[in-house]
Amino acid sequence: MSTVESFAAAPKVRFEQVSKRFGQGPDAVQALEPISLDIAEGEFTCLLGPSGCGKSTLLNLLAGFEQPTTGRVLMDGLPVRGPDPRRGVVFQQGALFTWMNVRDNVAFGPLATGRGKGEAARIAARYVEMVGLGAFATRYPYELSGGMQQRVGIARALANDPEILLMDEPFAALDAQTRELLQEEIRRIWQETRKTVLWITHSIDEALFLATHIVVMSARPGRIKASFRPSFSHSADPAVVASPEFVRMKAEIFGLLREEALTAQRQEGVR
Ligand SMILES: Nc1ncnc2c1ncn2[C@@H]1O[C@H](COP(=O)(O)OP(=O)(O)OP(=O)(O)O)[C@@H](O)[C@H]1O
Ligand SMILES: [Mg+2]
Repeated sequence: MSTVESFAAAPKVRFEQVSKRFGQGPDAVQALEPISLDIAEGEFTCLLGPSGCGKSTLLNLLAGFEQPTTGRVLMDGLPVRGPDPRRGVVFQQGALFTWMNVRDNVAFGPLATGRGKGEAARIAARYVEMVGLGAFATRYPYELSGGMQQRVGIARALANDPEILLMDEPFAALDAQTRELLQEEIRRIWQETRKTVLWITHSIDEALFLATHIVVMSARPGRIKASFRPSFSHSADPAVVASPEFVRMKAEIFGLLREEALTAQRQEGVR
């Protein structure tokens, strides 16, 4: 295979035997065992796993915030060496500039990457609208609910037009109803933009609703325990939740996670 062909065939993201150990000596924590995982362009991958299994670590490695202890993280066939605007990160909460209104928060990235004022304003307006906050463009973060702040965070990440969106439990702090509405919004935005997404969640339902690819991790040190590609991904039919495949997959993931959560609990007990 020529170099050109091998690049063309490369997945958008490849974790190649990636492990991560924090610290040294007796206090060292092996967060991840060597993990290999491919993410194709345009895929919506949800990572599930018990607390402390290394999900955020995996995402931070792809974001470029951390470097692997062994192995390589590749984007388009090239190693990730640090943060890059081609990878947009949305944090669990906060991370907005409190002294800027919604529009300026969203325009910040485009301005910082050299867009002119007018263009940055147009980009900001588009994404503020996309996340349904058109009427709140001149409000400040303290004037917004938690769910609205999360939407600003999403608009802010999208405004940089990243190729990959990295979301670490973005809806964890939200109530169930807001969460469901935002899930629908994310699904619509993903269908519109077809970004490659890596999304961490503790909710099986959220993963089943959003993902084209579900990856279940084991208790620490994290490994990939199972992965699923639901055929009902993004079906518009609400009855899908009662389909045999949905019900079976949900039960299987529930069982896997329960097993791993028990292992994680035992590990904490022996500390
Ligand atoms: N910067 C760090 N320094 C030392 N240890 C760390 C660091 N970051 C993570 N760890 C450890 O690595 C392990 C995995 O942490 P990580 O945050 O990736 O888990 P997680 O799966 O995201 O958990 P949660 O679901 O609770 O968010 C944990 O044992 C954690 O204590
Ligand atoms: Mg985490």
